[in-house]
Amino acid sequence: MTYDVVVIGAGAAGLMCAMTAGYAGRRVLVVDHANKAGKKILMSGGGRCNFTNLASGPANFYSDNPAFCISALKRYRPEHFVEMVDRHGVEYVEKAPGQLFCAESSKEILRVLMTECDWAGVTVRLKMSIERVERAGEGMRLATSAGCIDAGAVVVACGGLSIPTMGASGFGHDLARQFGLGVTDTRAALVPFTLSSHWKARAEALAGVSLEVAVTCRGRCYREPMLFTHRGLSGPAMLQISSVWQPGDFLSIDLLPGLDAFEALASARRETPRRRLSTWLAEHLPKRLAQALVEWHGDDGVLAECSNERLAAWASRLDDWRVKPAGTEGWRTAEVTMGGVDTRALSSKTFEVTGLPQLRFIGEVLDVTGELGGHNFQWAWASGVACGLDL
Ligand code: FDA
Repeated sequence: MTYDVVVIGAGAAGLMCAMTAGYAGRRVLVVDHANKAGKKILMSGGGRCNFTNLASGPANFYSDNPAFCISALKRYRPEHFVEMVDRHGVEYVEKAPGQLFCAESSKEILRVLMTECDWAGVTVRLKMSIERVERAGEGMRLATSAGCIDAGAVVVACGGLSIPTMGASGFGHDLARQFGLGVTDTRAALVPFTLSSHWKARAEALAGVSLEVAVTCRGRCYREPMLFTHRGLSGPAMLQISSVWQPGDFLSIDLLPGLDAFEALASARRETPRRRLSTWLAEHLPKRLAQALVEWHGDDGVLAECSNERLAAWASRLDDWRVKPAGTEGWRTAEVTMGGVDTRALSSKTFEVTGLPQLRFIGEVLDVTGELGGHNFQWAWASGVACGLDL
């Protein structure tokens, strides 16, 4: 079998790249070891795929080589993907500013990609494992479970390491190493935190309580909802900050973002001196959390009896609640992989390996990781198109 292009990975980036190259007249084969294409698309966004973010730009991405993503993101913008989705009649909603989700189901996005691949003449082969990839003359040769395949170029689009049960593997990273490329340190990101000892018990007792917080770690701050879980802390604020958190770091959580807790407590003491601290807390926080805080700190009473020192102690608990996570839930539940194939050995225009244009890497396998909110798919689409146009 001979193809102009073999794409390894029938996920978001691989399918996007394949259809782009197919429309350009290339004979394209997409191979995947999974029994279904686009499994992560299907499970994304709680089953409704947050397929892009209208405000997506380079500032929404982490990488050791931050300028790498600029070119592709500039050339294929969120509006371009929305235009394709519109053409296929997919209904969507803007759940949070800029974040577009399918109104019905993630299946719609996979349907769009598979239909476009079909129209572009792309062949998709599932349940095929790749044993070896090597150079062969001017092109590349793949040894697979279905025999040898020759290709003018191989595009590695096998994604990151999260959720191994969905087909994730380190194959792309291993392939990069085989061809002499670097792979930056990888870790689970956009992932809930676990807590230990008494903090775990406290979170467990509050499981299901959610509130908007501003969380800070390593100079990054995210203001989004936080959710207490049976294992620890989750919700968008925690997923976002997990991308910068390192083991041993404390999180600083402002439970009353936008409010100076000391000023607010002092003015409540002036205006309503007979009000109890617990009543004030319950007016500003979810009731279960307010109650728990009073129990944890064994401090309640009428505001009039609170000294400035007591108010300052409460203000620091509310504005700067310090929590040291035990860890994260890891690859089992992480949405993405931080780190990956070092982009310094690739062209940011074509995604080819410097000195070996027959080999390319796109999507999440690269050391380009988006924030929560549709940015990771936007990167998959943009890198897939940039590469596909050059094949
Ligand atoms: P992707 O993982 O999509 O595809 C890789 C493909 O390669 C898979 O089909 C896999 O089977 C295949 N493969 C792996 N190893 C192979 C091997 N050895 N041989 C052959 N094939 C192999 N992002 C976002 O923007 N909005 C969202 O709503 C969400 N939601 C979300 C929820 C959950 C639960 C997860 C886990 C992730 C998200 N994401 C997200 C992240 C998003 O899913 C992710 O960034 C993209 O799918 C990455 O696209 P890729 O094509 O690079 O990899």
